[in-house]
Amino acid sequence: MNITLTKNSRISNVDFSNLQFGQIFSDHMFVCDYFDGEWSNERILPYSDIKVSPSSRVFHYGQAIFEGMKAYKDDKDVIWLFRPDENFKRFNISSKRLAIPEIPEKIFFNGLNELLKIDRDWIKKGVGNSLYVRPFVFASEPSINATEANAYKFMIICTPAKSYYENQEIWVKIEEKFSRAAKGGVGYAKASGNYAAQFYPTQIAKNEGFQQIIWTDSNNHNRVEEAGTMNLFFKINDTLITSPTSDSILDGITRKSIIEIAKSLKINIEERDITVEELISAHKSGSLKEIFGTGTAVTVLPINGFGYRGNRFSIISNEEKTSDLLKIKLNNIQYARTKDFSHWQYKIT
Ligand SMILES: Cc1ncc(COP(=O)(O)O)c(C=O)c1O
Repeated sequence: MNITLTKNSRISNVDFSNLQFGQIFSDHMFVCDYFDGEWSNERILPYSDIKVSPSSRVFHYGQAIFEGMKAYKDDKDVIWLFRPDENFKRFNISSKRLAIPEIPEKIFFNGLNELLKIDRDWIKKGVGNSLYVRPFVFASEPSINATEANAYKFMIICTPAKSYYENQEIWVKIEEKFSRAAKGGVGYAKASGNYAAQFYPTQIAKNEGFQQIIWTDSNNHNRVEEAGTMNLFFKINDTLITSPTSDSILDGITRKSIIEIAKSLKINIEERDITVEELISAHKSGSLKEIFGTGTAVTVLPINGFGYRGNRFSIISNEEKTSDLLKIKLNNIQYARTKDFSHWQYKIT
């Protein structure tokens, strides 16, 4: 791999105690090109603007997908990724759905390893600190023919992160008008366009005082699917319920990890459809104890309440939160502070 190191590291200008998510990028980036039916020319360069043609198909037809993962440092300065094999698999599942050529495993992991080794100082120790890693691929071919492209760029960039939404009240709106994803669509893929389509309904929800939307199924707006960038769990009595994944729900890596951790703790967990009526009636009877979201960015995020048809339903419970317990267990695995689930810990060497 060709490596060009920066002569002007920006790290000393960064206030790591005061980070806005996704605003500052580490010193280097990984780049690889697809051309003539092959991924090649893997390189690491100083992070910088790139040259792309205005006719690149990504700008016109949105042929782009991405992943999100985090690198953590343990107390001995060892760098860990959490289940990157799952991100790799999902990267290619998303690519396939968008007719993007799949990335060979070796290229994906060499890129990740080399980049994280070079930018290791950007990963700070301590729970809550991480380096968010963003692999993405886009159609770079300069042609506005409305078909899949013949040229792509695969890149990895990194941004230092602190815990999201720390100490903030989180309210979510159950959406009935707009849809995030439809049956047979691209909801299960991390297609860039899925996120663009969420911005307008989310803007409306934010103006109404919510942080995120709970998406419901596009047919009847009755079954709860997921939130903007999180899968959802509901605790009714002593059972956790999460919707089964489908072609309209992202198969979250945090979600599937939380399911396994919960099972290992003998917490009742059900993967099944949950309707808005069930939620409202559980709230009414006092059996809705918790709602929380799971995702790479937020890890496990307790939700204070939800809005539905203009009414607000606050989640109040004096019990110890299951989400707190699960979050601690997950953090311990992510920061390699435990040998539990050690097969999920990927060491950067
Ligand atoms: C739409 C959507 N759902 C769920 C998730 C959670 O997935 P993961 O736990 O793999 O980060 C994300 C974020 O990645 C997302 O964008």
